[in-house]
Amino acid sequence: MIEVSDLSQVFVAEDGGKVTALTDVSLDIADNEIVTIVGPSGCGKSTLLRLISGLIKPSGGSVVIDGETVKEPRADMGIVFQAPTLLPWATILDNVLFPLKMMGRLDAKATERAKSLLTMVGLGDFMQHRPRQLSGGMQQRAAICRALVHQPKLILMDEPFGALDALTREQMSIELLRIWNADKKTILFVTHSIPEAVLLGDRVVVMSPRPGRIAEIVTVPLSRPRDFESEEDPEFRRCCNRIRNLIYNPNLTAGARHA
Ligand SMILES: Nc1ncnc2c1ncn2[C@@H]1O[C@H](COP(=O)(O)OP(=O)(O)OP(=O)(O)O)[C@@H](O)[C@H]1O
Ligand SMILES: [Mg+2]
Repeated sequence: MIEVSDLSQVFVAEDGGKVTALTDVSLDIADNEIVTIVGPSGCGKSTLLRLISGLIKPSGGSVVIDGETVKEPRADMGIVFQAPTLLPWATILDNVLFPLKMMGRLDAKATERAKSLLTMVGLGDFMQHRPRQLSGGMQQRAAICRALVHQPKLILMDEPFGALDALTREQMSIELLRIWNADKKTILFVTHSIPEAVLLGDRVVVMSPRPGRIAEIVTVPLSRPRDFESEEDPEFRRCCNRIRNLIYNPNLTAGARHA
């Protein structure tokens, strides 16, 4: 469904210097797959997501979705950013309905869907509240509903749980898995947390430091549906350890592989 080919991105800084954020990233993502991306800060994870979303244009290479080269954000895509991006003056329900309003697709059925999504993430009693009346975790849950409400085929999530406390974060990943299980979509999910990447992903893309490239793609053989108990599985630990080695010990790992 998504073909990322030889993607590279060079930014020109204000002083005219060039920053290579991504080099030669190639990646195919299947329909309904959950692919997670981990890597050190500054390795180009957000850049990769922005390129796939069409928010920025690549310096080289291409992103093709369903046979079409991505040139601008698509209607069948939902995005969740790390920072809370709800409209402060609008109610939670209106925030979730916002994409539909923009697309001119607001009708009774869509409103029902928004309400049931909010109920599903535990915000049923907060639909008429303003964002400031909700905790950070609740706001982020609303932002996830907003990304899902127009039933996108593809959801791009850039550290969506980054600002949440550890407990809420764990709950949210299980909630996301529940949503995905009920209504399958393709999800591309950036995180700083290795266990989160393994728990969620069918595959984990491990990126190397700047200039960002793919160090390795680790396949997660855990069965679905997954929950906290999946973390007890020896395969879970094996995947986490493999990724830790790649990130903290890249040279050693590379040497070992060629030995
Ligand atoms: N608009 C821009 N102009 C210039 N340089 C940029 C721009 N956006 C990103 N960069 C640079 O590209 C590199 C990759 O940035 P990016 O935000 O993709 O990293 P990241 O992996 O998402 O990091 P983090 O984990 O901290 O969010 C960094 O060196 C950054 O300084
Ligand atoms: Mg980032």
